[in-house]
Amino acid sequence: MSSSIENKVNSLKSAIEDYNYQYYVLDAPTVPDAEYDRLMKELIELETTYPELISKDSPTQKVGGKLDSTFQPIIHLTPMLSLDNVFSSDDFLAFDKRLKNRLERDEKIEFTCEPKLDGLAISIVYRNGILEFAATRGDGKVGEDVTHNIRTIASIPLKLRGNFPSLLDVRGEVFMPKSAFEKINKDALEKGEKVFANPRNAAAGSLRQLDPSIAAKRQLAVYFYSIGSAESVELPNNHYQRLMQLKSWGLPICPEIKVAADESECLSYYQRILQNREGLPYEIDGVVYKVNSVEQQQLLGYVAKAPRWAIAHKFPAQEELTKLIAVDFQVGRTGAITPVARLEPVFVGGVTVSNATLHNMDEIDRLGVQVGDTVIIRRAGDVIPQIVSVIENKRPANALKIEIPTVCPVCSSDVERETDQAIYRCSGGLVCDAQKKQSIKHYASRKAMDIEGLGDKLVDILCDEKLVDTVVDIYRLPRESLIKLERMAEKSADNVLAAIEKSKSTTLPKFIYALGIREVGEVTATNLANKLLTIEAIANASQADLEAIKDIGEVVAHHIVSFFSNEYNKNVINELISVGVHWPEIEVLSESEQPLLGQTWVITGTLSQMSRNEAKQQLMKLGAKVSGSVSSKTHTLLAGESAGSKLTKANDLGIKVIDEEAFIQLLPSF
Ligand code: IVH
Repeated sequence: MSSSIENKVNSLKSAIEDYNYQYYVLDAPTVPDAEYDRLMKELIELETTYPELISKDSPTQKVGGKLDSTFQPIIHLTPMLSLDNVFSSDDFLAFDKRLKNRLERDEKIEFTCEPKLDGLAISIVYRNGILEFAATRGDGKVGEDVTHNIRTIASIPLKLRGNFPSLLDVRGEVFMPKSAFEKINKDALEKGEKVFANPRNAAAGSLRQLDPSIAAKRQLAVYFYSIGSAESVELPNNHYQRLMQLKSWGLPICPEIKVAADESECLSYYQRILQNREGLPYEIDGVVYKVNSVEQQQLLGYVAKAPRWAIAHKFPAQEELTKLIAVDFQVGRTGAITPVARLEPVFVGGVTVSNATLHNMDEIDRLGVQVGDTVIIRRAGDVIPQIVSVIENKRPANALKIEIPTVCPVCSSDVERETDQAIYRCSGGLVCDAQKKQSIKHYASRKAMDIEGLGDKLVDILCDEKLVDTVVDIYRLPRESLIKLERMAEKSADNVLAAIEKSKSTTLPKFIYALGIREVGEVTATNLANKLLTIEAIANASQADLEAIKDIGEVVAHHIVSFFSNEYNKNVINELISVGVHWPEIEVLSESEQPLLGQTWVITGTLSQMSRNEAKQQLMKLGAKVSGSVSSKTHTLLAGESAGSKLTKANDLGIKVIDEEAFIQLLPSF
């Protein structure tokens, strides 16, 4: 064995020790779990090949984290074990096969399927039904006494109910619900304090407080998932029934737990939970399958640190390490300059990611990120990938500071910073090709003039080919020029031309929205139209007239006035009208025809008889305001199929929820 292997093993051990310390003692991990798991796997593989290199102090030789002397040690009545992992269906099927071989069974094995909660394991001992002490897992044999903090968790009973055993050591996961996590991080940001990397660290940090009044404020929760030991009670002979028994004693059990008749039902469970992951009110990082029969569990037994009868099926990691290769600056419709991170491609959250948003220069300052840095990238659900943090000790000597360009990268006009804002803008207006293209894309988009087939790519080509310079040119596109474009068949050219023609017939709110006035979204456009009724009236309105309209403040009013005082814009509007863009007169609805006036609605889930946008238009017509998120101000939630977290939140807040059928009944004409 070469000394380079020994060096490798030593460097892996010391890196893992550092990460363990940051994770378990400081509650402030510096690398994603996936990176930690990889180093651990590499070390295990080397130690398996070269067993002479295994030392007693190797991180592979213990179950959990380090102990910290702040808390009293508690020796667990029975060791707190860990779980082996699989990362693919095939590996789970291989696990299932191994179980069958070991049990010498041909028939199916029943499993209990549970979400793998991303918090920290806890053991709570109840003696004669009274909570006696609670301990963290620690190293698996000895944990830390956190009874004082555990007692503050609202859902943990201090006293068991019903026919409880004389002694019960129950195990579960303490976690911080997503909503509580968002709140404490928001409060911490406002106070300029340190934010927690994720809900798990926030939960761990809360349990490690000496002062229980801090933990009490953190809104922790718990779900129990196994029994360590129980005395003077006959326990049911399957795991699921045992969980139900715990529930009957007043201990909270995760409502997503299900029994699967065989391995294929386990895999369907995995898919279902993965799909619903974002909608769950707590973080999970996979699912756990446990052989349901206790008799079979006993036959299968344990390996060193984990039961043979259970396995965690992990979801693809949502956080990964990669390198920031470069930062490009993109110019948006209103000239706002957004830094975009170009990354070394990395597989994260189930897809390969090579770009991430950096939002603005303040975000770059906050992260302290430089080109060349190793960064943690996060992709959760369908959210745009984000850079979470920088691994500063991996910064190369040639790392480059990120500077905002002084001139626009597209048109070379000056870049200006808005007072008091993090936003830099290109001052070129429609001289800037980027702004021009974006404003044409916006004009053609679905919620604006809805020109089907005139998508982002075609707009880029039309502008690059100088066939379109302003939105008016869309209506003057010669068929011959369109057909000549690469990959544009006659049929698709005709379809685009038909869609352009169709778009001439629109509504005033859509037209105003399509103009792309700064900060005038659909709602403001609708309010403007309903209040002022004609484009002339809107164009001639004074700052004061505008500020008198609902939801229009000083800044938005200023943007509207300055838009309409620009000669170029006025010409474009006149020309659009002269090429045939038109809309019906606005019907003036009396208050009685706007029965939802003053109400705020939220739409969620999938609607079957109309699009969400149509539902929104209908609601706005009836006077309602439509918002994107549920809060105590929400009047009603319209919930379609597969509604997720918004529905849960509405139910939690006791907000009225109606389905699509009931909504349609409300509409005067549908
Ligand atoms: S059972 C004997 N069930 O995952 C088996 N663990 O990687 C002990 N965890 O230490 C664990 N959700 O902190 C089990 N439904 C669940 C779980 C779960 C999360 C955690 C627990 C454990 C770790 C093992």
